[in-house]
Amino acid sequence: MNAHAPSTIRPVVVDVHLGPGDLDTALRSDILSGLTTDPKELQPKWLYDERGSDLFDQITRLEEYYPTEAEREILLRHAATIVQRADADTIVELGAGTGDKTRALLDAARDHGRLERFIPFDVSEEYLRSTATTLAGIYPGLLVHGVVGDFDRHLTRIPRGGHRMVVFLGGTIGNYSTAPRAELLGRIVGGMTPGDHFLLGTDLVKDPARLELAYDDPGGVTAAFNKNVLNVLNRELDADFDLGLFDHVARWDAHEEWMDLGLRSRVDQRVRVAALDLDVEFAAGEIMRTEVSAKFRIESFTAELAAVGLHVEHWFTDDNGDFAVSLSVLR
Ligand code: AVJ
Repeated sequence: MNAHAPSTIRPVVVDVHLGPGDLDTALRSDILSGLTTDPKELQPKWLYDERGSDLFDQITRLEEYYPTEAEREILLRHAATIVQRADADTIVELGAGTGDKTRALLDAARDHGRLERFIPFDVSEEYLRSTATTLAGIYPGLLVHGVVGDFDRHLTRIPRGGHRMVVFLGGTIGNYSTAPRAELLGRIVGGMTPGDHFLLGTDLVKDPARLELAYDDPGGVTAAFNKNVLNVLNRELDADFDLGLFDHVARWDAHEEWMDLGLRSRVDQRVRVAALDLDVEFAAGEIMRTEVSAKFRIESFTAELAAVGLHVEHWFTDDNGDFAVSLSVLR
């Protein structure tokens, strides 16, 4: 049998650019700078340890948290149109944490008949290997080439070649404020050639009351998710944060048009972070930012994409108009 026959399950290749030591180094330097700047700020990527990833998964199934379901609705409905327009032989997925949405795209791409290669990129080697192996089994003939890395450092390591569609789902781009977002988009475009496509999920500006409910659900799942970052610091950096002395806060910033998530200290307190040999003072009422989740407008975001050479061919939205997926082409 021909090794490239469509019925053959091809071996998965995974390039690892990030070891456990690299993550620890990045965590230390991030947390040191975040706890010693004013106002204090932690990077959202540290929210996702095993428990944090599990809590986020629970968030995506909450009644109040509409983005996951809205994006799924869009992709299930429009996958065939998307792959037809992109006509890609290579799909690159940034943050391969979106199993069933990815499947909708891969199913459609397989049916379209041009798909040869899938390149998932993720920070977690364990997660990436299991996703890559599962998908290689589901799509015989597909070459799955995973890359383990950090969005902010390793996008240049994504294998080149092919007519590509780069996919970035979930609204994760909302974690970036304007200037870092332009840099991220520039780095993504740096790995593309003219004619390649970019499929991007973006949450839209809407009634602040709905946003605040989505990011502060009455059941407290989002609060637990947010506070869990303190467990991460306690465990990884030998810190002594008392989770009971912080409250989850989620506020709509109408000027920045983002949800501003943080942890508010209930009292004046001092926290020891032994691994950094650091004592940190919190004043009662002080808020340490843990995440921003920017919300977008179609018109202004079209201009942000154009600034890096991406021309939007189509905006897809859910029936409610809550969430948007753009398909753009690099000129
Ligand atoms: C994973 C960044 C898309 O911003 O909606 C959800 C993270 N934080 N609830 C978002 C999140 C609190 C989520 N993203």
